[in-house]
Amino acid sequence: MRVFTLVADGVRNLARLQLSPRERFNVFVGDNGQGKTNLLEAIYTIATLRSFRTSKLSDLVAFGAQEARLGARVVKDELVRVYEVELAPGSKKVRLDGKAPRPLSRYFGGFNVVVFTPEDLALPRGSPGDRRRFLDRGVFNDEPSYLVTATDYDKVLKTRNSVLKQAAQGTLGARQAEELLSVYDTQLAGLAVSVIAARTRFLERIGPEMAQAFSAITRTGLSASARYVSKLVGRSAEEIEQGMREGRVKDLATQSTQLGPHRDDVMLELEGREAGSFASQGQLRAIMLAWKTAELEVLGRAHGDQPILLLDDVSSELDPARNEYLFEHLATLAGQCFITTTSGSHVLLSRDRADYRIQGGQILE
Ligand SMILES: Nc1ncnc2c1ncn2[C@@H]1O[C@H](COP(=O)(O)OP(=O)(O)O)[C@@H](O)[C@H]1O
Ligand SMILES: [Mg+2]
Repeated sequence: MRVFTLVADGVRNLARLQLSPRERFNVFVGDNGQGKTNLLEAIYTIATLRSFRTSKLSDLVAFGAQEARLGARVVKDELVRVYEVELAPGSKKVRLDGKAPRPLSRYFGGFNVVVFTPEDLALPRGSPGDRRRFLDRGVFNDEPSYLVTATDYDKVLKTRNSVLKQAAQGTLGARQAEELLSVYDTQLAGLAVSVIAARTRFLERIGPEMAQAFSAITRTGLSASARYVSKLVGRSAEEIEQGMREGRVKDLATQSTQLGPHRDDVMLELEGREAGSFASQGQLRAIMLAWKTAELEVLGRAHGDQPILLLDDVSSELDPARNEYLFEHLATLAGQCFITTTSGSHVLLSRDRADYRIQGGQILE
């Protein structure tokens, strides 16, 4: 899998861009605030129709611009496909080979990217919400149909919460609210089962690779794992619906839905204990590195083609042994890579590498 050409116009601080990246390692070197992460975000957005920085895609539209246009020509199995996205406040237009893909899920599968950012390293000690979004990024990649499930879940959840609010504020009669809530309980419970199933499936798939990668990175006998934390694993839709009914009084009081996978978490573990509280900083980094490595492996196997890796802000923070492992591994696991850094010397790759400078949103070869 390889990006042949990349175009962006009206995207964040990026100058109008037309780039033909090299086959393997593309290294973008620039100071802070020059647009390095913006560039990776642009690629990620074309591939996944989401951003790893914001939940509002219109944030990508450059200040003062009407719309953002992004596109990529990607070759997979000798087949070239053209991906295009147009973003404006409140609107997103998507084309695959010049046509609107129907259903939208047809858009995915030929352009797989895995992103790794420095923020990911803080996840074991971060908020459950950040970990959920991180987990969901992996699930989307592995199972494109999850996009529909997760989007539907969020929609019904929002609607249910607004009914709770209206009922609490008295703008909706109690009977009417009860009726609406029973409808949404059923819908939400059904979707909750699918969300939980997709997430646990994904974690089961990356589990063995993650453990293996962790021991390769740290060269200790310690084991690392990721465990889905939810009150709802193994519960049927009917049982979840029942739980929602029982929690309705509390939901009305708090004007929010207490039960559901939007409250779940994924726990990163070292030797079966919560890594956030027990692991050293270095071990935490290794755990996240192992997770990403596992994702690359699983994705590559599932699609019969190595995914594209976006590696943001490579620094010298990792110790030399880990850094070396990372780059050695990249060379075997990923196909094309887009790497950003403040200094080219942090990137320990010598072969198949092209360096670009990025300055004020301009990319200079
Ligand atoms: N929608 C936008 N329009 C124009 N500029 C933006 C927009 N969003 C962010 N920026 C600018 O992008 C720059 C940060 O780019 P970023 O890619 O995060 O830098 P870095 O090279 O440090 O990764 C900042 O100067 C910020 O003001
Ligand atoms: Mg950055």
